[in-house]
Amino acid sequence: MSRDLKKEIDEIRRSGRISREGLELILTAPAGDDTGYLFEAARDTSLRIFGRDIYLRGLVEFTSHCKNDCYYCGIRRSNTKADRYRLTEEEILACCDAGAGLGFSTFVLQGGDDPYYDDERMCHIISSIRARHPDCAITLSIGERSRKTYQSYYDAGANRYLLRHETANEDHYGMLHPSSMSGKDRKRCLFDLKEIGYQVGCGIMVGTPCQTRDDIYEDILFMQELGPHMIGIGPFIAHKDTPFANEDNGSVDVTLKLLAILRLIFPKVLLPATTALGTADGAGREKGILAGANVLMPNLSPPDVRGKYLLYDGKICTGEEAAECRICLQKRIESIGYHVSDDRGDHPDFRN
Ligand code: 5AD
Ligand code: FES
Repeated sequence: MSRDLKKEIDEIRRSGRISREGLELILTAPAGDDTGYLFEAARDTSLRIFGRDIYLRGLVEFTSHCKNDCYYCGIRRSNTKADRYRLTEEEILACCDAGAGLGFSTFVLQGGDDPYYDDERMCHIISSIRARHPDCAITLSIGERSRKTYQSYYDAGANRYLLRHETANEDHYGMLHPSSMSGKDRKRCLFDLKEIGYQVGCGIMVGTPCQTRDDIYEDILFMQELGPHMIGIGPFIAHKDTPFANEDNGSVDVTLKLLAILRLIFPKVLLPATTALGTADGAGREKGILAGANVLMPNLSPPDVRGKYLLYDGKICTGEEAAECRICLQKRIESIGYHVSDDRGDHPDFRN
């Protein structure tokens, strides 16, 4: 393999930083020996901190209504073909109960940006989950809100918040979102969440239209400024009923390389091998773990709504029951020499 590349990888590992040239070298390196060394280094780092434990997050996609109109997203407001649904509090609680029965100790409530779930409703849902599952971690992924609202969710019992920044470059942000949304607001939300005391997850899609390697470098710098506890990245996958219907999908190889780079820069970060990665490549989630990821987010949504929460085409696991996904994932994880942990999987330096 190229000596420069090996030196670059060793240097990221040593310093926890990457140069623009280093990023270029890694992202343009052909698959094979070169990337093998990168993945090995990332795996090794993950093993040192987390051992062979893989944490599960039970994902409850509780609403497919969204007031936003992001160009990439299948549940965007303007997609009149999207099948919309909302889960009641009872249904959400039933998903969590079923998840707890399957050994999950973390629940992620994810949905479109849906004003129906106002502060009062949302806080009621959060505190009801907290009352029934006192020791679980409650994660929210419901978009941009005011600091006051974020505080009220936290006070009701939420611990973590996922809000991908999508792209740190403001111009690129503007190519992916209508003018009603801004990258600045998004970043402000992330800093608010962190200050309140949440474990915070940011992240990007890999290979969105017009994304350059400079953008990706800016993303890494932004992540270093934020200091997230979790980072969600997965390939962009076109959805047929969006303005990006005819755009190319993101590359699995680049996604895997970025996972590995992020593991080296943020050794302790919680890094999921995402459903989008598993959709783009049948073995994508296993490859993600072997590139340094340590989290999987199986779906706990009721089977009758799964096929309606379609952010992108071809999404996997829309026909399975929660229990089936749980068994499937366990097999996949064990086949590569790792095991499912029933721990909450907090960031090693943090517990709230
Ligand atoms: N392809 C891949 N990921 C997508 N997301 C939304 N639309 C797509 C798509 N077409 C991701 C966004 C969002 C997360 C919930 O899902 O990054 O933050
Ligand atoms: Fe729903 Fe973007 S279309 S958050």
